[in-house]
Amino acid sequence: MTTVRSVDPHDDAAFRAWYDALAAGIEADRTDPTGWTYPEITVAYRHPDPSIRRTPFAAYDDDGRCVGAAFASLPQKENLQRANLNVGVPPEHRRKGIGSALLAALIEHGLADGRTTMLAGVDVPVDVEDWPGVAFATKHGFSLALMEVRRQQPLPAPAERLDALAAKADERSGDYKIVSWNGACPDEYAEQYAHLKALLDTEAPTGDVHWDVPDWDVQRLRDEEEVATLQGRTLFSTIAIAPDGTVAAHTQAAVTKHDPTRAYQWDTLVLAEHRGHRLGLAVKIANVRALQTAHPDVTRMDTWNAEVNGPMVAVNEELGYRIVEYSHEYQRNLA
Ligand SMILES: CC(C)(COP(=O)(O)OP(=O)(O)OC[C@H]1O[C@@H](n2cnc3c(N)ncnc32)[C@H](O)[C@@H]1OP(=O)(O)O)[C@@H](O)C(=O)NCCC(=O)NCCS
Repeated sequence: MTTVRSVDPHDDAAFRAWYDALAAGIEADRTDPTGWTYPEITVAYRHPDPSIRRTPFAAYDDDGRCVGAAFASLPQKENLQRANLNVGVPPEHRRKGIGSALLAALIEHGLADGRTTMLAGVDVPVDVEDWPGVAFATKHGFSLALMEVRRQQPLPAPAERLDALAAKADERSGDYKIVSWNGACPDEYAEQYAHLKALLDTEAPTGDVHWDVPDWDVQRLRDEEEVATLQGRTLFSTIAIAPDGTVAAHTQAAVTKHDPTRAYQWDTLVLAEHRGHRLGLAVKIANVRALQTAHPDVTRMDTWNAEVNGPMVAVNEELGYRIVEYSHEYQRNLA
């Protein structure tokens, strides 16, 4: 019989078993999977985060072995109607109802907190016809709400390519000042930078997923930076400043000391009234140059975009990103 219960993140043995089952489940048969390392996930679950409440759940067999894992992440500041979740069952334990038992616990957990929708990401390699996560989500009443594409850029990017693209960007972005840093955002930009961070969720295409405008302020920015430091991550950020002092665009990427050959491209956003100046390209080039100079051991950087996000995808293709996987966002109403 399968027993499902929540896991105490401070119980080292139980939490490690949960992590191992989750990673084995969600990474099986994937293309160069991008899961969080154990030290990073440990910080995420042990460090109180006022913007999200994360709860791990594990499935155990009669001998007490962990045979499946899941989590629910409940936003605390906005998107209060939603529970984000994932379920991972290692291949040797599949098709025995373990995933379904974990999902039932997640639904109960979400409903108990008044959540009315659930959102789950399913990563699918290119050129795969049948994929367990898709069949499982469909069977459980989820429907596809947004198709994201994961692309990867080999690093270091060739200097000639970056130089040529920088010259192209400069033709239209020359009036803007480009500023890069790693680590914490300088105080002088923090307020405007927090405002830009608030916009991404609603300004990038979201398909059928509803996002509230997040409640970002400087304190939330500092909280995020502190967690990143504890996780062993270095954040590389670049902004473009308009002649009137407005922070008009930004991009951010992360490297982790726990997986030193990888980097992750996170947010990029250009304020609506500053679009058309090739600022997306300009900030990304400056950022990747800073990152690969500081971390010559990084061999690749991954990014996720909505399939329909034409402008961002065009910039990424120019930079040398190529598709490695699809990331299906599945949604189910509980109401
Ligand atoms: C998706 C996953 C969690 C399913 O775990 P599981 O323990 O095998 O799931 P269950 O045994 O409860 O399957 C329930 C139903 O889902 C469907 N299903 C699951 N895997 C399937 C597969 N490989 N092919 C077709 N249908 C499948 C079936 O309808 C199944 O019922 P059945 O076995 O009676 O036919 C597991 O394959 C996994 O970890 N995948 C990678 C991570 C992932 O995609 N997570 C999904 C997030 S929503």
